[in-house]
Amino acid sequence: MFNTVALVGATGAVGRIMRQLLEERPLPAKTFRFLASKRSAGGTITFRGQDHQVEELTKDCFAGTDLVIATTPDEIARDYLPSAVEAGATVIDESGYWRMKEGVALVIPEVNPQDAINAKGIIASPNCSTTQMVVALKPLHDAAKVKRVVVSTYQAVSGIGLSGTKELEEGTHMHLHGQPYNYTAFKHPIAFNCIPQIGGEKEAGYTSEEMKMVYETRKILGDESILVCPTCVRIPVANCHSETIAVETERPISPEEARGLFESFPGIKVVDDIGSSMYPMPLNSTGSDLVYVGRIRKDLSHPNGLSFWCVSDNLRKGAATNAIQIAELLAKHRFGK
Ligand SMILES: NC(=O)c1ccc[n+]([C@@H]2O[C@H](COP(=O)([O-])OP(=O)(O)OC[C@H]3O[C@@H](n4cnc5c(N)ncnc54)[C@H](OP(=O)(O)O)[C@@H]3O)[C@@H](O)[C@H]2O)c1
Repeated sequence: MFNTVALVGATGAVGRIMRQLLEERPLPAKTFRFLASKRSAGGTITFRGQDHQVEELTKDCFAGTDLVIATTPDEIARDYLPSAVEAGATVIDESGYWRMKEGVALVIPEVNPQDAINAKGIIASPNCSTTQMVVALKPLHDAAKVKRVVVSTYQAVSGIGLSGTKELEEGTHMHLHGQPYNYTAFKHPIAFNCIPQIGGEKEAGYTSEEMKMVYETRKILGDESILVCPTCVRIPVANCHSETIAVETERPISPEEARGLFESFPGIKVVDDIGSSMYPMPLNSTGSDLVYVGRIRKDLSHPNGLSFWCVSDNLRKGAATNAIQIAELLAKHRFGK
């Protein structure tokens, strides 16, 4: 049982889902606190039937808090979370800042739970596009060792937070009325378009989002030899990221074997009947905590290749759900029930 749990970034797109999850699947805690920026401080959040005042995040706000679940921009996580650790709190962070740091555990509870249980200091939750891919890769990796992955993403606008959703809605409305719209969250219009750049430019022509998929996959699966070739694309979909994933394994995995491996892995649901036009899509996956897999087929271009389609709610399993599952693991294994 936790004494005090602080949700930092409680007013954001991911923070809102975390609050919802904490109501749906109650974490054992005596007290909850809700923190955000100065802009939101003083506002009211109703949680488990009680009104709570939103507190401003400061470096000395963590005294007496034993668990911090943080979901803020990277630079806020960089500047404030060390103070939480110094104050004695266990920290779960949703931002990208700490994930690849030495000594920081990067955890998907279905994949590497022990890393959270053994962790000291900050525990990071992976990037949304990485999480759903790695959940799907894990049973294949355990069965036949994944050597190489070629992945293309079709990422929803909620992936950049509330501002992304607002700009898709407003930009679509203005486009339909023949009016110009000034996008600030995206570099190009997102309505009626797709943008093949997520994040800034990184090495060898790849973006920061793409390189997260390379490095985070290796860290979570504990295998530096896995080769990943990602292309990340923003599309005008409100919520849920979709991915085409082509995997090369050490030995061939037939579509039938892969279907069985996916079906018996926790957190995955197979929806795969092309004859009946049944496959996962953003509209039938949104609001769910699962990773959906479909279009499972042999990769015709490689004898050890398998190809499939994967959809998951980026705000839930890609962010909030994963962090809350880590908190539940800690509640069970480190804080006693
Ligand atoms: N959206 C996704 O699908 C997704 C998936 C995986 C990971 N993530 C990561 O999760 C984090 C949050 O993303 P989001 O989509 O929820 O963004 P968001 O909707 O923009 O929310 C950001 C949150 O951070 C707070 N914040 C901003 N500046 C702050 C400051 N100076 N001090 C204290 N709090 C501050 C905001 O508070 P105010 O309301 O007061 O501004 C808000 O609660 C990001 O690091 C993101 O990369 C997001």
